[in-house]
Amino acid sequence: MASQPAAPSLDPSLSLYHLLNPAVLADPYPLYARLREEAPVAWDPYLHCWVVTRYDDVMAVLKDFSADRSPSPEFMRALGLGQIEPLAEVMCRQMLFLDAPAHTRLRKLCSAAFTPRRVERLEEYITEITDELITAALAKGSMNLVADFAEPLPAIVTAHLLGMPRADYAMLKGWSADFAEMLGNFQHNPGGVARVIKSLEEMTRYFRSAIHEEHRKLNDGLVRSLVEAEVDGGRLTEDEVIANIIVTMVGGQETTTNLIGNGMLTLMRQPERMAQLRSQPGIIDTAIEELLRYESPSQHTGRICHADTMLGGHLIPKGAPVLAVMAAGNRDPDRFVDPNRLELTRTGNRHLAFGWAAHFCFGASLARMEARIAFNALLARLPGLALADRPLVWRENLGLRGLTALPVTFNTEA
Ligand code: HEM
Repeated sequence: MASQPAAPSLDPSLSLYHLLNPAVLADPYPLYARLREEAPVAWDPYLHCWVVTRYDDVMAVLKDFSADRSPSPEFMRALGLGQIEPLAEVMCRQMLFLDAPAHTRLRKLCSAAFTPRRVERLEEYITEITDELITAALAKGSMNLVADFAEPLPAIVTAHLLGMPRADYAMLKGWSADFAEMLGNFQHNPGGVARVIKSLEEMTRYFRSAIHEEHRKLNDGLVRSLVEAEVDGGRLTEDEVIANIIVTMVGGQETTTNLIGNGMLTLMRQPERMAQLRSQPGIIDTAIEELLRYESPSQHTGRICHADTMLGGHLIPKGAPVLAVMAAGNRDPDRFVDPNRLELTRTGNRHLAFGWAAHFCFGASLARMEARIAFNALLARLPGLALADRPLVWRENLGLRGLTALPVTFNTEA
């Protein structure tokens, strides 16, 4: 374990633990701005990690620091936390928590299965499900944009991508939500552990039996492709297939839901921007990048300092945990002109919402495609779309930023 680093003591009002306050969670950007200005690289004694908020520093952490941050099963056992062992077993086989060369090997094999062609083939299906969900909302005359659209769309698409029956999507969504509660959350939640472990056991059993089921041929989905993927004569083990299906399933659902939910919220809060996108659908691609930058679905991620390193004038010791706050880097005025302004045609928008370098989001092209189809259809088919007059509640997951519900109104006579 790293010893406590010698760092100037942090003004307690700058600790990221304030995200636990619903008012700060609703608008974390002033806190991020203060951190960038006053303590851009800071040891947060309340979270027991370094917090990095400037664009260049976040990039440096994502590029150079170690992603190998999942505790080993043996370590958990030694700490008397044996109940978490199954989780550690899965995480240490997931590409998200590995460094080269183990990461390179896994990512190559997974990329051989998750090809651009596979993503392209999903376009028609995504369009079909999008239209179906909007038609149902129109028939009902009301819509909770999260529960009725932003959650089921990626969940149904993910089931299809994996080659699982559509009827299983709600189950996959439930497991994914449980797993996501643990990713990106740094508050103590002992009550949640048992549920996450149960979900993990259920989904592991589910995917293992899907791989083994002899009489039901797996559809032409990602599960089968991962089992069959071969690079330089090497293959994934069954446990690796399952672990990386889980990370893909969780990555593919929670964040995409939040991109659609946060993005639509942002547009409804700035009706002139929504009108701009409606009248100029050709700007959809830059608009999506800007919505990713402006309200990043994945706000931060963790790393371990690989070697004693100077960053922002501070010595980060080898082995220290570091939180790279991509959402703060995405509002850095040294990188983005007028960063708090939503500029749907912004150019040179190399935001950090999908991460950076070796772990750059594996599903970015699918997320972009899903968002393009979803935003286009919602704007085209729901005229008069506006926020319902209800208070907004943000999910308590501090790393994965999204709303618990998003009730909207629209003109039903169209
Ligand atoms: C708006 C949607 C999405 C956002 C904002 C997002 C964000 C991210 C970020 C920030 C990372 C890097 C994390 C780190 O470096 O610690 C990441 C990695 C990853 N994402 Fe996404 N993601 C999205 C959609 C998806 C989709 C649709 C999939 C799969 C279908 C996916 C699968 C993954 C996987 C497997 C990784 C790990 C890559 C690696 O470690 O090499 N994501 N994502």
